[in-house]
Amino acid sequence: MTSSLTPTLPGHAYTDPATFAAEEERIFAREWIYVARGDELVPRGKVLRRQVGPESVILLRDRAGVLRCYLNVCRHRGAQLCSSDSETLGNAIRCPYHAWTYAHDGRLMAAPNFAAMPPSDRERSGLLPVHVTEWAGLVWVNLDAEPQPLERQLAPQLTYRFGGSPSRIERWGIGDLVVGARKTYTVAANWKLIQENFQECYHCGTIHPELVDAIPAFARTSELSAGYQPDGYRFADGLDAFSVTGQARYPRLPGLSAADERRYFGMVLRPNCFLSLLPDHVIVHRFQPVSPSVTVVECDWLFDPAVAAAPGFDPTDTVEIFHRVNQQDFAAVEGCQPNMNSRAYRRGGVLVPLETETINDNYYRWYREAMAG
Ligand code: FES
Ligand SMILES: [Fe+2]
Repeated sequence: MTSSLTPTLPGHAYTDPATFAAEEERIFAREWIYVARGDELVPRGKVLRRQVGPESVILLRDRAGVLRCYLNVCRHRGAQLCSSDSETLGNAIRCPYHAWTYAHDGRLMAAPNFAAMPPSDRERSGLLPVHVTEWAGLVWVNLDAEPQPLERQLAPQLTYRFGGSPSRIERWGIGDLVVGARKTYTVAANWKLIQENFQECYHCGTIHPELVDAIPAFARTSELSAGYQPDGYRFADGLDAFSVTGQARYPRLPGLSAADERRYFGMVLRPNCFLSLLPDHVIVHRFQPVSPSVTVVECDWLFDPAVAAAPGFDPTDTVEIFHRVNQQDFAAVEGCQPNMNSRAYRRGGVLVPLETETINDNYYRWYREAMAG
């Protein structure tokens, strides 16, 4: 009888610094990477710093509202222009070393003894731009010189998740929502272990008691083995909201219909975003690899602006259920990470059939193709 088990990646894929460096170049320096919420960047607001694969970049929105992204490298002697993840955006970006000063559009506009610098030298000393775009209120950047459109990167993943109807995601109106709560987790595990975990629910019955109480299908392996359900996963009978109490507190999002009520949709948007779509809110995870064995995960809970602005808005009941899921998931993968170096895991582990389609057939196929390229 042939085996029902499919190999995972080998252990060293989760620990090896050379593999991590190759991922930075072949995945994070070539694909669109989710870096921030669009509403974090407002004109005269903040300049954000993000690590994108091997590069540090800065992000801002200029006075006309245009998103800008640059390598975080002064063209004079290479100082970091931003040395923290969020700084106040002034009228210009001033290097802290010798005060070369750049306009929001990247032009070098001032420097000590600027008058002595010929125009041609000024012109070739602007900040180096990075491609940046916004989709559904999420800001993505791409270090590649000529990237494909972001929509082309996302379309196959949305098509797969929504059973051939990628435009279905538009109903949640994610771009119109606002952040009602944010939690940041530093996870002692490789970024792929976290994403693999997010793409299988074989573990849900074991480690997520609140989640399977809310969505019983997650504990029924017979239903899970059918792959993603394109119409989402139903809440338990008697549950009106995805929250600790299950009590509906907020109206359903404006673009949704009765058919979307009491359902959960989860999906990975490779390489570093995970969406959870619910009737009255949306959860967005951003995965930031730090090293082979450390990943920072930023998790935003998004709400309708009218809901979030209402007096007494307190999303604790809603936030708490997925916060617990996060903690349970991260504890699980942190329990695996040390063993990625074990001789028992030299060739990796195995996937059972209900993990195989999402992890092997989709995720590993993408990963292997990206790393081979
Ligand atoms: S390194 Fe930036 S002004 Fe000198
Ligand atoms: Fe989980």
